[in-house]
Amino acid sequence: MIEQVKGTQNIYQNESEKFLYVRQCFFDVFNNSGYSYIQTPHLEHSELFEKSIGENSEIVSKQMYQFNDKGGRTLVLRPEGTSSIVRYHAQNQKELTNQYSYFGQMFRYENPQKNRYREFTQGGVEIIGNLDGFSDFQVINDSIRFLNNLNLTFTLEINTIGSIDDRELYSKELYTYFKTHEDHLSDESREKLELNTLRILDSNNSLDSKVIQDAPVISNFINDISSQKYESLKSLLSNNNINFKENTRLVRGLDYYNDLTFEFINDDGLVLGGGGRYDRLAEILNIGSFNGVGVAFGIERIMNIIDIKNKSPKVYIIGIDIDKISRFCKLLDQNNINYSKPPRLSKINSQFKNAKNLGAKYVVNTDEDTIKDLENNTSIKFNVEVLIDN
Ligand code: HAM
Repeated sequence: MIEQVKGTQNIYQNESEKFLYVRQCFFDVFNNSGYSYIQTPHLEHSELFEKSIGENSEIVSKQMYQFNDKGGRTLVLRPEGTSSIVRYHAQNQKELTNQYSYFGQMFRYENPQKNRYREFTQGGVEIIGNLDGFSDFQVINDSIRFLNNLNLTFTLEINTIGSIDDRELYSKELYTYFKTHEDHLSDESREKLELNTLRILDSNNSLDSKVIQDAPVISNFINDISSQKYESLKSLLSNNNINFKENTRLVRGLDYYNDLTFEFINDDGLVLGGGGRYDRLAEILNIGSFNGVGVAFGIERIMNIIDIKNKSPKVYIIGIDIDKISRFCKLLDQNNINYSKPPRLSKINSQFKNAKNLGAKYVVNTDEDTIKDLENNTSIKFNVEVLIDN
């Protein structure tokens, strides 16, 4: 048997019901709030992410599915969606301010475990163009509506990381600090010291926590304009009764952010989604000069913590005569009644069992011309009105 690729998933039955439910909630919220769905390619040139997310970021340096195609191009399976949408905007919509939504597979060569996969689904939105602080608020506010509609409990954590120049200064200061405490860092964090100093702040290793606790914080390096923007956002959130927690260590793992970064975290510390502002990304990619802000959610992570009622078909059609079954199906179709039917014309008892196992309420027996109500255990002569009324 050829094995399934490590870190990939088959999503079926209860899981696929959850997947479709979360996707529906996602589009119900975002696509009814002005965002338009965009589908960008799964295949991209490596260069796109090397430039946008940053060559030294963990995603680019360790996690990209990269290969040369038969034409000698260096391609990757996309690890995220933001960069491709920014590229699309520059090519096609440069003069406009647009709200994009997306939902699809991303690929990262991670150590597979629960909630961390090599192929996973992100649902995300990006507002791109000429933006002000209201866009930041919108993305956060709409995200909260999405998570609330799913009945999830979460904390919104926010931070400002200032301008890209502020971050560079901070990075240098942080480097000097960690270098002097190198002996107390975990091997993993020592490895990040030279090229990826900021990422040490994300470490969950208990060896690092004491050193991280006393490390310089980014808030002391933020320029005045960025600080003002952050204060305005916090007031906007408070005035709208949106609870948030400030986390000065929230710098996130992608290089393209400036000013706002945020994450939605559940009670078990699972990051359900995150995002931020990226005003310099178009410039970094050398494709224009416009702002952006967005968020992406880990759909499997959300699926793993929600419960949904099994959606059972209310009406199940059984019978062994193809013509009769087809006639009944047609009648139900004409009356817009949803129903299920057996995958093949097996023995009537086994079809009946199927209907029961799936939790159907009514079984339409096309051989006997009856409707059986499985909840009350009563049978009546077939009458389509009964199914319409119920
Ligand atoms: P990210 O934080 O790398 O951001 O990913 C967003 C979310 O995707 C995470 O919070 C997590 O829920 C989920 N996720 C990430 N990696 C995995 C994985 N290996 N398995 C399962 N779920 C995962 C971005 O990708 C940015 N593009 C977000 C953004 C949009 N920023 C601005 N706009």
